[in-house]
Amino acid sequence: MAEGRKQAKMAAAEAVIHLVEDGMTLGLGTGSTASLAIEALGRRIEKEKLRVTGVPTSFASERLARACGIPLGTLDTNGDIDLAFDGADECDSGLNLIKGRGAAHTREKIVAFGASRFVILIDASKRVDRLGSHMPLPVEVVPMAVSPVMACLRALGAHPELRMGVKKDGPVVTDQGFWVIDAQFDAGISDPAIVDRTLLDTPGVLDHGLFLDMATDVLVGLDSGDVEHLRR
Ligand code: 5RP
Repeated sequence: MAEGRKQAKMAAAEAVIHLVEDGMTLGLGTGSTASLAIEALGRRIEKEKLRVTGVPTSFASERLARACGIPLGTLDTNGDIDLAFDGADECDSGLNLIKGRGAAHTREKIVAFGASRFVILIDASKRVDRLGSHMPLPVEVVPMAVSPVMACLRALGAHPELRMGVKKDGPVVTDQGFWVIDAQFDAGISDPAIVDRTLLDTPGVLDHGLFLDMATDVLVGLDSGDVEHLRR
């Protein structure tokens, strides 16, 4: 990763940890930027003896949080999330997102949904005029439903592809044991709300990576190390 971009991600990650207060329950996102924030949280807990509980959104964030000394809970034990933080693959001017490059979007959405505050951490390269301009939309599916869900995505104007493993033969298998289809839209997604509804109404779709009207704050890390704070 280029040095400027790494610094930008680090700036956003450090900024969200300044929003954390003693006693909070935190949703812990997944991905390289969320990981930087988890590490920064671990450092703050050690230094200030902060008492917080983290609810992880993936096996990856759970393992990292444990290694950083962050006490963990679940939505059963800690259902009221004060603040969830996470990265994103794209963010439009209305703070709508595409997530799921790390195939963690289903758990990320579950944890973020109930959070009082959902703070997104990005660098400026993630800002787009139209969602789907650069990144495909990830759709998590029950394996037997891959063909009908791909047909549905083609009808929506997308080019769907089953995501394949790296260092593993065959499809990527999510933390839930499902598969992921990446759907590329040639000119971006013209009506995200329709794509959202259509996919959720399609049997075999567990969830997809459109996060509409969910983010309350977006912290945009800049190469200079400054942070731009966008609010809903
Ligand atoms: C994982 C995600 C990530 O949050 C998203 O892909 C951003 O990752 P990164 O911070 O590494 O760019 O949605 O499913």
